[in-house]
Amino acid sequence: MIELRDLTKRYGDKLAVDGLSFTVRPGTVTGFLGPNGAGKSTTMRMVLGLDEPTRGDVRIEGKRYAELREPLHSIGALLEAKGVHGGRRAHDHLLCLAQSNGIPERRVGEALEMVGLQDVARKRPKGFSLGMGQRLGIAAALLGDPRILMFDEPVNGLDPEGIHWIRTLMQQLAREGRTVFVSSHLMSEMAQTAEHLVVIGQGKLLADTSMSQFIAENSRTHVRVRTPEPERMRDLLTEAGLRPVPGAEGALEVDDGDAPRIGELAAAHGVVLHELSTQRASLEEAFMRLTAQSVEYHAAAPGGTHAPPVPQEGTAPHPGGPQSPPGAAQPPPAWGEDWQDRKGRRG
Ligand SMILES: Nc1ncnc2c1ncn2[C@@H]1O[C@H](COP(=O)(O)OP(=O)(O)OP(=O)(O)O)[C@@H](O)[C@H]1O
Ligand SMILES: [Mg+2]
Repeated sequence: MIELRDLTKRYGDKLAVDGLSFTVRPGTVTGFLGPNGAGKSTTMRMVLGLDEPTRGDVRIEGKRYAELREPLHSIGALLEAKGVHGGRRAHDHLLCLAQSNGIPERRVGEALEMVGLQDVARKRPKGFSLGMGQRLGIAAALLGDPRILMFDEPVNGLDPEGIHWIRTLMQQLAREGRTVFVSSHLMSEMAQTAEHLVVIGQGKLLADTSMSQFIAENSRTHVRVRTPEPERMRDLLTEAGLRPVPGAEGALEVDDGDAPRIGELAAAHGVVLHELSTQRASLEEAFMRLTAQSVEYHAAAPGGTHAPPVPQEGTAPHPGGPQSPPGAAQPPPAWGEDWQDRKGRRG
């Protein structure tokens, strides 16, 4: 378990981490999300005692990192894959770490095998690819068979097989009752890996909730209906008290719609349906919606203006929906013409 209480870090006039309080629990993979510069890496450095908090406190199984006698048995971490001596062979790098924590030498071979680097054990990391460096960092994290694992963007540079492998590994480690805390910008990957989420923006806590609740609370689920008689179906839905709006490919989209009820309504009036599907939002959409106002670094669009996040076709978020949690950031005013258009038509 990792416990943060009012954890705060200031660099000059920059408040990088601003009063974070949350607990990362064992038995599940906790995803740590936030836009660039949100304070994720700074938070992780403070967990490991690599940065001194300006205020507040962080404990690993009740202790500060500096109080752990053999820390690699308690917490294994991958923060910077490049934080390795480039000229020291991979095996020797891990052996140094093992010896400083009372870990037997055979564990070095095991860790290298776990990450698939056994064939380059005698090679020097300065010649490693990005993904090989990540694997060596993960081997170091696993070395002490720790109860807590913390990874900062571990899939960065990994090939598809490596990404699949680390997802399976993290889930396995959590199933064994360990605490797994991982940051990533790959939303589709995170959606498949983490059960719990901690989301921060500009150093502040935005959400600490389960994956399913996070998506449900920060996005739009709707029913998509395609029929050769869209006008008639629209009228039937409106008469039934629903609010259909035009969607992509001539479909109708019904917010808060109940697919079985819509299907029965169509059947009762003999309307042919070509599609009736519940469209659930993605983690990416929910994340962009919650963090829209916390994003500090926007790329300029080709026209020279700042580019707003572009929701996927047919899954445009609706501003200020009834499920918005208190304090949740609202999307920027312009989500793109398609959305403006629908909003206008909806009234
Ligand atoms: N050593 C430092 N000195 C000064 N400012 C720093 C330092 N480390 C981080 N910062 C600032 O603190 C803020 C948070 O940075 P941090 O690296 O923790 O963000 P992050 O969430 O990990 O971002 P990313 O997703 O880009 O990795 C940024 O504004 C960054 O410039
Ligand atoms: Mg970072």
